Amino acid sequence: MTQSLPLLGTPLSDAALRVMLLGAGELGKEVIIALQRLGAEVIAVDRYANAPGQQLAHRAHVIDMTDAQALRALVQAERPHLIVPEIEAIATQELLRIEAEGLAEVIPTARAAQLTMNREGIRRLAAEELGLPTSPYAFADSLEQLGRAVEGGIGYPCVVKPVMSSSGKGQSVLRGPEDLQPAWDYAMAGGRVPIQRVIVEGFIEFDYEITLLTVRAIDPASGEVRTSFCEPIGHLQVQGDYVESWQPQPMSALALQRSREVAGKVTAALGGRGIFGVELFVRGDEVWFSEVSPRPHDTGLVTLCSQRQSEFELHARAILGLPVDAGLREPGASAVIYGGVDARALRFEGVAQALAVPRSDLRLFGKPESYQRRRMGVALAAGDDVEQARERARRVAAAVRPRAA
Ligand SMILES: Nc1ncnc2c1ncn2[C@@H]1O[C@H](COP(=O)(O)OP(=O)(O)OP(=O)(O)O)[C@@H](O)[C@H]1O
Ligand SMILES: [Mg+2]
Repeated sequence: MTQSLPLLGTPLSDAALRVMLLGAGELGKEVIIALQRLGAEVIAVDRYANAPGQQLAHRAHVIDMTDAQALRALVQAERPHLIVPEIEAIATQELLRIEAEGLAEVIPTARAAQLTMNREGIRRLAAEELGLPTSPYAFADSLEQLGRAVEGGIGYPCVVKPVMSSSGKGQSVLRGPEDLQPAWDYAMAGGRVPIQRVIVEGFIEFDYEITLLTVRAIDPASGEVRTSFCEPIGHLQVQGDYVESWQPQPMSALALQRSREVAGKVTAALGGRGIFGVELFVRGDEVWFSEVSPRPHDTGLVTLCSQRQSEFELHARAILGLPVDAGLREPGASAVIYGGVDARALRFEGVAQALAVPRSDLRLFGKPESYQRRRMGVALAAGDDVEQARERARRVAAAVRPRAA
């Protein structure tokens, strides 16, 4: 815990506070920048070379993070004080052992990383242990079981997802019995690991969905962990991938209060320090828990322009045991910039026009390879209200034109 966390010091010396990121994509890159501004020494690990965060970390390593032995060997060689997972596909059993041995502190906890990498772990915790409202659900290990679960209770429409997958991979909406077989086949092809298991959820006809960024950080007055909530982030998903987000999402006082209750409970159960992206569906005053990431959330990229401290700065501060300010600065929006081409390297046209949009900003992630639907950058804009910010962010994104180099 924090008692064993050394003071912030001097990178690349005996007095360094060392942080290892497991995953160094665009979200990890921003966490690394925030950590380095506070003088931490950062080691960036990813499964491919020159991942965005690796380009600026003090050291970079390429390993298969699902390989327990490789993970342990690297932790033993680098001796980080903190291990910060940025992705789900990690040998979390090994993280549990590393944490139990006191080799390093895992953010927020090894158990949180383990429970959230599998939809079954987090869904059972949320619905069955904590009693939070969720869509009706069942798990199935075969097409036959899936059919029985749907026809015997869940009904149509429903959503089938591999228990281990992210960004909508292997996920489909079923409208009738004829969709069962294709959904099963698609889930089997789209899972992250060859596990023959899916979750089937009743389809929630929500008015809108939000990410409620929730921070667990130490309150310096009491020395205890205190939970703070960012303003709700609204977002638009296309094929399970976020394309636009904005903050604050307008919602009724009751829906906001319920959302905070749900987020407070699930993050308290996961424990530790850091930021969590709690995904919720909202209809009127009704709120359903969907899932939670114990780390910065992609829809939270908007906070780079809308909050006093972005979700990445909040995460960095929280994990270092420092106080946080989750307050909004002004309404903002983000719009994703896709590669649009399969190419080994890109050049970006139109950046000057993009940044001529008032109160706009841009992140180009520097990923070494592009494909059609790969997120290569994000447009950001502030506005007097969310509508203006969204319109600007869309204009910024549209102006940037990636070209194969
Ligand atoms: N039960 C449901 N009812 C209605 N819509 C759903 C349901 N489950 C998922 N969705 C829609 O699909 C999107 C992706 O689902 P989910 O977050 O579970 O998948 P994911 O692969 O973990 O995505 P990501 O990793 O991008 O968060 C949701 O944000 C929501 O728009
Ligand atoms: Mg999600």
